[in-house]
Amino acid sequence: MTLTREDCIALDQKDPLRYCRDRFLTAPDCVYLDGNSLGAMSRLAPAALTATVEQEWGRDLIRSWNKAGWFELPSILGNRIGALIGADCGQVVVCDNTSINLHKALHAALGINSSRSRILAHRGDFPTDLYIIQSAVTSCGRQVEVDLIENELEIVERFDENIAVAVLSQINYKTGALLDMERVNQAARSQGILVVWDLCHSAGVMPVELDRHQADFAIGCTYKYLNGGPGAPAYVYAATRHHQQMTQPLSGWWSHANPFSFSPEYIPADGIKRMLSGTQPILSMRGVECGLDTYDGVSMQHVREKSMALCALFVELIELECPDYGLDVIGPSEFAQRGSHVSIAFEHGYSVVQAMIDRGVVGDFRAPNLMRFGFCPLYISFEEVWNAVATLADCLHQKSWLDPKYNQIATVT
Ligand SMILES: Cc1ncc(COP(=O)(O)O)c(C=O)c1O
Repeated sequence: MTLTREDCIALDQKDPLRYCRDRFLTAPDCVYLDGNSLGAMSRLAPAALTATVEQEWGRDLIRSWNKAGWFELPSILGNRIGALIGADCGQVVVCDNTSINLHKALHAALGINSSRSRILAHRGDFPTDLYIIQSAVTSCGRQVEVDLIENELEIVERFDENIAVAVLSQINYKTGALLDMERVNQAARSQGILVVWDLCHSAGVMPVELDRHQADFAIGCTYKYLNGGPGAPAYVYAATRHHQQMTQPLSGWWSHANPFSFSPEYIPADGIKRMLSGTQPILSMRGVECGLDTYDGVSMQHVREKSMALCALFVELIELECPDYGLDVIGPSEFAQRGSHVSIAFEHGYSVVQAMIDRGVVGDFRAPNLMRFGFCPLYISFEEVWNAVATLADCLHQKSWLDPKYNQIATVT
């Protein structure tokens, strides 16, 4: 049985999240399959950012730290993100970027498990995580070894009582593979291991249950599925039970118990504010606020169901429409074990992605040969998936890689 565009339109008509599309400013002639890299812009963002610039910054100036609540934005937005990732209030702050927050969370976890000397991570995880692990090892003040495993399915088997911390992505940025947080946390706990979760590719596309699964630490960005805007600040979660013990290496004045005492002596704040460092980018914080508004009243269960259905449709259509080119959809075949992006290995992947972008279908490329397409359930329709595969098939039939203009490698891929 073949699938038609009409079948996809029928799926859109039954989609309980159809109303969310209007919450975004999307270009009508663009199928945007890169919300896993930079989420679409909230329709509220231009007016909200303009108001912040004109009124709060332009007219009220310094008064806005109190009057517009600027100083409390890390906690206020942190609690709102907490609601999306299963964390009770007081355990998440928005600040800095994912890399910096990983450094802080990892340092804290290493400090708590100070009698142990190993970190476990997955070699295939996003490189910044691996680089930051190296930098945290260098600066933690004791001898710590890093074990990089090749296959994330081996994680639990590799746990032992020498490991202080495991740093893991809930969803892998290339393969889309989803780790079972409950199982991993349980196994880690039974061996006294702390886990720092990278939620960059899971927050906003599936129910994440940090408290229910007794997570220790987590970090993530807000510019992907949370739609916070380019370079929007990230967040860090620390479970309440770790707050008293945790220390972090960038303990600036925003993490002080009483920053406006201007005391020369450092006294750490009691709660999650201990994870802050210094002054935060307020304009970008407003972007995060608008991004979070796009999730108001949205059921994460609906988001997850639609995310799996969009990915499944994409893969099914590729098998039907592009069988002759040796495309290899990587990652788990079960959609319940995947996140919301699909990567396809193909030797001419870079040029095909460029040709698709030229035809209005935006995905991205991850070296060495992956075409990567992300499906944000809030604004992607089933019909757009159909259109995207039709465009991919056309680029393949046209052998777009023979066109030199699609072979010029840009700085950002
Ligand atoms: C899994 C993962 N972690 C971390 C990062 C980067 O973090 P940042 O640039 O916010 O420090 C990315 C960026 O795409 C990512 O995919």
